[in-house]
Amino acid sequence: MPTTRSIATWCLALCIGCAVAPAPEPIVQPARPPVAAPPLAPTQAPSQAPAVPVALSFPAGWPYPVRPEAKPTTHGMVSTDAALATKVGQEVLASGGNAVDAAIATAFALAVVMPSAGNIGGGGFMVASVGGKSYALDFREKAPAAAKADMYLDKAGNATTDSREGHLAAGVPGSVAGLWAAHQKLGGPKKKWADLLAPAIRLAKEGFVVDEPFAEVVAQSEKKLAKYPASAALFLPGGKPVAAGERWKNPDLAAVLERIADKGPRAFYTGRTAELVVAEMKRGKGLVTAADLKAYDAKWRDPIEFTYRGHRVVSMPPPSSGGITLAMMCGILEGYPLGERRWHSPEHLQPVFEAMRRAFAARNSTLGDPDFVSNPLERLMSAEWLAAQRATIKPGRATPSAEIGGAPASGGTGPHTTHFSVVDEAGDAVGLTTTVNHWFGAGVTVAGAGFVLNNEMDDFAAKPGTPNSFGLVQGEPNAIAPGKRMLSSMTPTIVRGPDGKVVLVAGAAGGPTIITAVFQIVSNVVDFGLDPATAVNAPRFHQQHLPDVVVYEKAGVDEPTLRALSAMGYTLNERGHLADAPSIGTGRGGWIGAPEPRRRGAYAAGW
Ligand code: DON
Repeated sequence: MPTTRSIATWCLALCIGCAVAPAPEPIVQPARPPVAAPPLAPTQAPSQAPAVPVALSFPAGWPYPVRPEAKPTTHGMVSTDAALATKVGQEVLASGGNAVDAAIATAFALAVVMPSAGNIGGGGFMVASVGGKSYALDFREKAPAAAKADMYLDKAGNATTDSREGHLAAGVPGSVAGLWAAHQKLGGPKKKWADLLAPAIRLAKEGFVVDEPFAEVVAQSEKKLAKYPASAALFLPGGKPVAAGERWKNPDLAAVLERIADKGPRAFYTGRTAELVVAEMKRGKGLVTAADLKAYDAKWRDPIEFTYRGHRVVSMPPPSSGGITLAMMCGILEGYPLGERRWHSPEHLQPVFEAMRRAFAARNSTLGDPDFVSNPLERLMSAEWLAAQRATIKPGRATPSAEIGGAPASGGTGPHTTHFSVVDEAGDAVGLTTTVNHWFGAGVTVAGAGFVLNNEMDDFAAKPGTPNSFGLVQGEPNAIAPGKRMLSSMTPTIVRGPDGKVVLVAGAAGGPTIITAVFQIVSNVVDFGLDPATAVNAPRFHQQHLPDVVVYEKAGVDEPTLRALSAMGYTLNERGHLADAPSIGTGRGGWIGAPEPRRRGAYAAGW
């Protein structure tokens, strides 16, 4: 087993000549040992007893263990889907940056080292706790001014696939404006904006060695990328997907990032970069114009805040549905003594599935961009509405979804977004989820700029009553309109303990499964006292109103439980895995990194 020092040396070598000061010896917590890298193992177990209840065990064959051995750190922690990005964030913390600084640098690094989801051509949401105050930042993409409600319908009125791929699928990107807004309001005194872009610029310019997770996702997306010349040139050099072990550079992206470092977001939304985006749009008959780019604005919103069994939960409001849907699930379930039931027993799971069903029914039918529609947030969080939902749940029985109002929805797909969590020495915290929607978004790389454009327009209800790519059949509140933000499921979430201090930072990738994954992590910690790493590793379930099924993870539930749930009336469908949730929590006197074991390459580091 390598020593902590050898792990640290390997980690520092990852950061290709970072401009920031070398970090103290990090405690690294790989979700799984990275592939094609020196062997790594989790740090040694502390001597204290685990926080995990003794009775808890995962089903035989579940690949991700109970993890009470994860070593706590006291100074800070970064947990992401990509080791190189984690290292960038950790270096910023170690050299005096705060959690927001680290998050900004990590997000730019992800745009370079995980271009399938990390981005400057997409958007996202950030929730932060700074100095005990809570913040929510919306940098979701917007529909271009020329967008129309029926723009993805053919002559017969059927939905086309133009919302999913190609130039027409792109919304106006929000990431650069969002990261700038975060820096302006919450960045610490020790880091300049340009400092936070420097590691990403270096990674893009000097390149990095491609690992297997990166190579795999490029290979999976080869057909889509091959259709767009700038994407093919960047990701399929010589006509073949970039392979693990090769050094991969992105000089065009380095130049864009240098301009942004120098001039701030106006170097993205106007000037040379904007010209390149507009030229790309013209090549593919896309709608995003120079005026759309210039008009883009990130927005500070009031976070969704609620109490769950003495804990204060802070999450993302519309245009993300994440926070309010999480609040509905928690609010319904607060009426059940979940923690007194055997964890993942049918008696525990039945009210959970019913709460998910009811919360999603309300989500799908009522929510949209708050700048365009009125979201009934107060009503959906009110004691009366929550009690009315509970009153319809029959003990030990599945409620057919057809008996619950709301637009129908069907199953999601795999996690193509990326979330990360950061905490710093002062106890401040950031949860940030960012995406281009599907892997490599629209598939279109902006020629000369080295970044892909999102296909976020597919998150709108292109044809109310017809499923989008996540199977979400949403209502009129989420219909397309010029300048409107499409409804999201992204759920960056911070949980404070009864003393007001942050105890958990969570969030996920995975379309609608994001919300149910975040709920289960919160419940695992708050209701069952699981340590954060075990809470993330635990098997997950998903129900989203329609189709009227419960999805469970392969090997995540035993046969007797499946039989009992089936006898209650549930249709149960197996899935490889659900969501991807790099999180951080507290335990044994420090921060515990909870990288996502379902994602190869996920990594947490602190010291
Ligand atoms: O905003 C949303 O809800 C989606 N665009 C998120 C996409 C995602 O998580 C991709 N994974 N399936």
